Amino acid sequence: MTDNLSYKTLRLNDNPSDINKACLILKKGGLVALPTETVYGLAGNGFNKDAIKKIYQAKNRVAHNPLILHSDCPDKCLDLLELNDISKKRFYKLAKQFWPGPLTIVGHKKPYILREITANLDTLALRIPAHPIALKVLKSLDFPLAMPSANLSLRPSPTSSSHVLKTLDGLIDAVLDGGLCTIGIESTIINIASETPSILRLGMISIEDIAQCLHESITIAHHHEQKPLSPGAMSIHYRPLVNAVYLIDKTMLENIWHSDAMLLINNNDFTHMLSEQGPRSDLSLTQVLSDHAADYAKNLYDALYHFESYPDRILYIVNPSDRPSFKPILDRLTRASIKI
Ligand code: TXA
Ligand code: MG
Repeated sequence: MTDNLSYKTLRLNDNPSDINKACLILKKGGLVALPTETVYGLAGNGFNKDAIKKIYQAKNRVAHNPLILHSDCPDKCLDLLELNDISKKRFYKLAKQFWPGPLTIVGHKKPYILREITANLDTLALRIPAHPIALKVLKSLDFPLAMPSANLSLRPSPTSSSHVLKTLDGLIDAVLDGGLCTIGIESTIINIASETPSILRLGMISIEDIAQCLHESITIAHHHEQKPLSPGAMSIHYRPLVNAVYLIDKTMLENIWHSDAMLLINNNDFTHMLSEQGPRSDLSLTQVLSDHAADYAKNLYDALYHFESYPDRILYIVNPSDRPSFKPILDRLTRASIKI
């Protein structure tokens, strides 16, 4: 991270002394943004009511949107849940195959879990992240960490420490820099407590991966605006602060190619348009992402934050692909934009 004394939030790096500082802040009930392999999380002591309250305040998060608890060990996670035999079998299979990693498991909670964590639901969401820094911190603590994405509510999730500071500088105690997140979009969330396991949020672990692991059919939960099953899956989310964001089909590209509008496009469509239509206007701004879902996901939020440098302008995002691997990406793009 570059030195810039104007930041109000303490910036820490990946060394034993700074990791120790991060742990001390967390033990005292403070908030530290930590890197995970999906996105940066805003960590606070998951057993401390005041720390949880601070998380909601810093993010300006609505009280009915529950938090994920993060731990370093499946047995510790199991201790927090009250699972019947069927759910327990599902838990073991999923934890063995996907943890540490980008999967969040939702099950019935033990009664003592703070209701501020679960927003009064009777279920609890749990994840063991794979990032070495997050794991180092978790292993040094004797409590789990509540960690929503480390951004102001409704803005894109952060995939670097500078993204965190863009929306939370001065609102949290520290950010621990761990470079760029390797996955780049949030974890897949699966509810194992329902009769048929159901996906509450799409992520880079696919429904097929999960069905293969559990050897049973899986449903995708449909969210209703009034009472979403995963309250954070509300329709407007991940929106960069620009004048307007539109999701368009590539057939509409001709209409805006020679305009000054900002454009987020995948490489295939970009090279095709370049050869057909020539370069875009000098005043336009174009970000080109990969045709591969994993690379596209990794760089998506960085691209969205980049466009925020031009808050008065309109952003068009070209639907990158209808391939199954792009489903979790399309989910984010759809909610960041208005479809035209
Ligand atoms: O990859 C991730 O999951 C990141 C990293 C930091 O771990 N965390 C993250 O947290 O994305 P957040 O708070 O931004 O999103 C958590 C989502 C929200 O949509 C919330 O509604 C849902 O998880 N959630 C939490 N607890 C739940 C529960 N008990 N039942 C259903 N949905 C739940
Ligand atoms: Mg979030």
